Amino acid sequence: MMNWNEIEDYAKHWIREAGERIRDSFQTKLVVESKSNPDDLVTNMDKETEQFFIEKIHETFPSHQILGEEGLGDKLQSLKGITWIIDPIDGTMNFVHQQRNFAISVAVYEDGVGQIGLIYDVVHDELYHARKGQGAYLNSTKIEPLGDVPLEKAIVAINATWVTENRRIDPKILIPIVNAVRGTRSYGSAALELAYLVTGRIDVYITMRLSPWDFAAGVVLLNEVGGVITTLEGEPLNFLKENSIFVARPNLHKEIFTKFLKRK
Ligand code: IPD
Ligand code: CA
Ligand code: CA
Repeated sequence: MMNWNEIEDYAKHWIREAGERIRDSFQTKLVVESKSNPDDLVTNMDKETEQFFIEKIHETFPSHQILGEEGLGDKLQSLKGITWIIDPIDGTMNFVHQQRNFAISVAVYEDGVGQIGLIYDVVHDELYHARKGQGAYLNSTKIEPLGDVPLEKAIVAINATWVTENRRIDPKILIPIVNAVRGTRSYGSAALELAYLVTGRIDVYITMRLSPWDFAAGVVLLNEVGGVITTLEGEPLNFLKENSIFVARPNLHKEIFTKFLKRK
């Protein structure tokens, strides 16, 4: 039998320790590099944080596999067994430019099913955490299930990129959604945007390209409060590749999908 309490205790302990190391790094000079393009940033702290988790997990749970954004973990072919899915710093651009609005995202899945989800807002010392079937929490406070919000009062998290000319979606599909709702926001950290949805600070989040490490922990939290997450086509997410993301309170997922997104 898997001891999930033990795994959760370690995961929470490590995420807080990693956060402390990141807070300490504010006193040091960051090494910033670009990855796929000049705006796709990575720092020494992204790599060091991922390496920190890998060493701890390998030492404590040698049979577990690790999918990490910086590629220091394993090359996964499937989600069979126990898999840790880690984004060491989600919102690296914010980390570099603002020293806030970023998070560590850690999830543990068993045979593709999310068992533990942790999103740690390092600067605010806020840990969003959930165990499958046991509810979602912000630090020690239980998060209530998501109720209905009418479309005209909804706040939608969306990056302006997607309502201008881009390679992934015709902006004409999204503009009517932006017009129909109360307001839009963009926080620059997918993990925090998912955590904000879980806590009801935003009602919808739409984005065109997230990787499993961006959403794996968020999905575990969302399941505990009744949030609905699919691709923009309304399909289930694939945890081994990039996905478009459409996540919302249940009533808004249904209404927005039917009115604006569903292929007629
Ligand atoms: C990025 C952030 C950003 C989202 C990007 C992600 P990173 O993660 O979550 O908000 O729009 O798609 O890649 O690179 O900062 O870990
Ligand atoms: Ca990320
Ligand atoms: Ca990252």
